[in-house]
Amino acid sequence: MAAFEMSTVRAAVVGYGGAFGMGKYHGEMINAAGMQTVAACDVDPARMEVASNDFPGIRTYTDVDRLLEDPEVDLVVLILPHNMHASVAVKAANKGKHVIVEKPMCISVAEADAMIGAAEANNVMLSIFHNRRFDGDFMTIRELIEKGVVGDVFHIEAMMGGLHPFGNWWRSDKKISGGAMFDWGAHIIDWILHLVPKHVVGVDGYFQKLRWFDHTNEDHTELTIRFEGGANASVEISNLAAASKDRWRILGTKGAIVMHSWDKIEVSVDHDGYIAKFEAPMMKTNQQAYYNNIAAHLMKGEDLGVKAEEGRRIISIIEAAERSSVAQQTVKPAYS
Ligand SMILES: NC(=O)c1ccc[n+]([C@@H]2O[C@H](COP(=O)([O-])OP(=O)(O)OC[C@H]3O[C@@H](n4cnc5c(N)ncnc54)[C@H](O)[C@@H]3O)[C@@H](O)[C@H]2O)c1
Repeated sequence: MAAFEMSTVRAAVVGYGGAFGMGKYHGEMINAAGMQTVAACDVDPARMEVASNDFPGIRTYTDVDRLLEDPEVDLVVLILPHNMHASVAVKAANKGKHVIVEKPMCISVAEADAMIGAAEANNVMLSIFHNRRFDGDFMTIRELIEKGVVGDVFHIEAMMGGLHPFGNWWRSDKKISGGAMFDWGAHIIDWILHLVPKHVVGVDGYFQKLRWFDHTNEDHTELTIRFEGGANASVEISNLAAASKDRWRILGTKGAIVMHSWDKIEVSVDHDGYIAKFEAPMMKTNQQAYYNNIAAHLMKGEDLGVKAEEGRRIISIIEAAERSSVAQQTVKPAYS
């Protein structure tokens, strides 16, 4: 892909939902990075009123096809239900727009390939909003591992969930969400692939539907990533876990990192008999760094931080896990 040297980047947020206020969050970071939020689009006119209040003077649309005809929009940021990411991203790329897609990139490898193909064919940027790479807890854990504090990591467990019925929203509908692993699972798998930067040789999945039959997402999903050399990492996302477990349990050849909850990183080390336990000071979360990189990429030709292929490999791991669960055997994900 050619380096971009745009003098201004005029952005539109597509999907201005009320669940977490993500449209405002993206729009503000776009502006803080030196680009301009100039438009917003949502099928719900009430949400466009909210956008107009948040960003006075912004152009609003209730039809994404009309927004994509706006010649004064260079970049679109898709903050939509998961099953819409691929089709809108492909349309936007075909209209010559640079594209950022919220995580998960999409809900199948075939969709990811179509998105990457469209971006390449139109020579536009495609990036996935893996903002949690810039979370303070993750950056701290990553630094501890990269500095060798716990030796070579050979086992990771990460968990999110508990025992609770599904909320009545699109996130609980497998056709729209992709399934239980696609929401938080996308963040956790992205984290793990950075903590263990080794070749993935296979994935085992265990997806179960046992209790909450009023919604179609799986009640309990687990996957284990097998890395070259034997290291493994498991992710559990559950609405059916009456007993929870640690958020992170990371074992290395010289120690361990554990997060029982969100606010404390506990480290135990044994360096040749020098034994210590300590709480690691947590770095400050800086999700703005994601957009600063986008601005630097589009305006100054800097390397893109979160590439589409990195979003795709997460989707390929979840897809392999689901196939493994059905086949009851290890499946190799569709990336090398
Ligand atoms: N990275 C993060 O930290 C983070 C946090 C929350 C949500 N998300 C992601 O953001 C995305 C959206 O989630 P949300 O919580 O904002 O959902 P949401 O339901 O609050 O918002 C989705 C919006 O999309 C709109 N929409 C639906 N069809 C549309 C169409 N054809 N054209 C335009 N707008 C349309 C809906 O009206 C709704 O307002 C998902 O991918 C989710 O996983 C990411």
